[in-house]
Amino acid sequence: FNVTWDAVAAEKGGYEHFMLKEIHEQPKAIQDTLTGRISEDGKHVVFNELDWDQNYANSINQIHIVACGTSWHAGLVGKAVIEKLTRIPVNVEIASEYRYADPIVSKDTLIVVITQSGETADTMAALREMKKRGNRVLAITNVVGSSAAREADDVLFTWAGPEISVASTKAYTTQLIVFYLFALFLAEKRNTCDSQTIADIVAALRQLPELAEKSLESAPIVQQFAQQYADKEDAFFIGRGLDFSVSLEGSLKLKEISYIHAEAYAAGELKHGTLALIVEGIPVIALATQTHLLEKTISNIVEVKARDAFVLALAWEDDTQVESTVDEVIRLPRTLDFLAPVVTVIPLQLLAYYASVARGNDVDKPRNLAKSVTVE
Ligand code: G6P
Repeated sequence: FNVTWDAVAAEKGGYEHFMLKEIHEQPKAIQDTLTGRISEDGKHVVFNELDWDQNYANSINQIHIVACGTSWHAGLVGKAVIEKLTRIPVNVEIASEYRYADPIVSKDTLIVVITQSGETADTMAALREMKKRGNRVLAITNVVGSSAAREADDVLFTWAGPEISVASTKAYTTQLIVFYLFALFLAEKRNTCDSQTIADIVAALRQLPELAEKSLESAPIVQQFAQQYADKEDAFFIGRGLDFSVSLEGSLKLKEISYIHAEAYAAGELKHGTLALIVEGIPVIALATQTHLLEKTISNIVEVKARDAFVLALAWEDDTQVESTVDEVIRLPRTLDFLAPVVTVIPLQLLAYYASVARGNDVDKPRNLAKSVTVE
């Protein structure tokens, strides 16, 4: 009788791959990232790690968010969220571009670098360059003791826990959480939001661990769709506003691990070229959570349906408009439209995962890619 002890299998905690384990860890990772950062009365954000006074918070006149890959996608959501709550203009920059671009900044430009590992070469180069220029740099990172954490002026940690799979999942959702908290923190300090709005968003944030859990329940529909379309060579993701930012992340996930060519498009931009690629049977994943843009998104869905695409939509559980125009719907647990990215990305992560499994790929170690790119 032989017992073989497989340490890696044990680390996967019963899941077949690290990625699936990490996708399922999101409710807890979100909770851990929120913990200690909300006041006891549940109405404010507390960042003990940022000793910023009102004067400093008021002096910021623009923000540059700099990152690579999935962290850059989190930055796109960060921009929308910070601009909405604080009206501070935000640029989101790809680190490998930014470091060589001689960016226009003033002493009141805050640089926010966002990096799961805290070691990405281009992101670190941007951090060092901007520090050299005398700008204050805030790092958002998942790794305590990483280069970014050590070298930045201020650090906000995501508490996702170790992420092993090359494709980032729980790091992204916790980065989103930090951006929501940070935007609320700045809005409060700068008085750009009334206290009821802040309290409402904080209350909604606290529900996200539970809603992330519910979003995981989409797995069976997603798996079926992934198996059905796993032999396709192309897929398209469309959405508007925050849905577009999440589309980019969904498309990156699919490319990274399933090797299916995927493109994300701002839905309204389709007609400027990409519509030529929409042919019968092509899978289109339509994100439709932004109520103020819904009518417009639906008209884009109708355009791709008219070309016989197969449309899988992600819509709110209480939606009544999207279902009749698409082939299949994934219903998302309801939260504020503003927080939609956190629940929307989960089915997209699962889609990439199941497509990768169906194609027999090495899910956790996709070809040509590394978890952390520490050389240029
Ligand atoms: C690599 C990883 C991605 C990650 C990117 C940035 O490409 O495969 O998952 O998003 O690096 O990594 P960082 O650690 O800076 O967030």
